[in-house]
Amino acid sequence: MTLQIRSTSSADTESLGAKIGANLRGGEVIELVSDLGGGKTTFTRGLVRGAGSTDKVASPTFTISKEYQAPRFTIAHFDFYRLGEAGIVADELAELVADPAYVIVVEWGDIAQDVLPPDKTTIYIQLQAEDQRLITVSYPAKFAYLLQ
Ligand SMILES: Nc1ncnc2c1ncn2[C@@H]1O[C@H](COP(=O)(O)OP(=O)(O)OP(=O)(O)O)[C@@H](O)[C@H]1O
Ligand SMILES: [Mg+2]
Repeated sequence: MTLQIRSTSSADTESLGAKIGANLRGGEVIELVSDLGGGKTTFTRGLVRGAGSTDKVASPTFTISKEYQAPRFTIAHFDFYRLGEAGIVADELAELVADPAYVIVVEWGDIAQDVLPPDKTTIYIQLQAEDQRLITVSYPAKFAYLLQ
């Protein structure tokens, strides 16, 4: 199933993240796909807030992975941008997949595709102009609750 949404500001993209974040139950995997600066980390900031966490979201580009504590689960945020190979970070990710105590968010996940589950939700962010983005959410039917 897919849903397309136009975003005209980073606040819009954060709001979509917050909406999805509020609907998370634990165990979901969300892959974020865009060119550099598309708004993947901005979306994640909204998602973490929506899930009820007050933890500060920053790009995990240098640390590769970060965790944020929400009341009902932990959000593990991975960014494979700087990695030449998925290696032990992918092992770390694989261990968390399907654990209902975690929600996984992945940026630049191309090299980690083998450890991402087939029933992940993928959010494509297309840059259209300075502040405009076309966001496409592609999700398995069983995760329709994320957008309600
Ligand atoms: N509609 C929009 N949605 C999201 N971000 C926007 C939008 N308009 C402008 N921006 C700006 O674009 C930038 C997006 O940066 P962000 O770090 O979220 O992107 P990213 O996809 O995570 O980048 P990277 O590929 O480097 O990880 C921010 O500076 C944000 O303010
Ligand atoms: Mg980022």
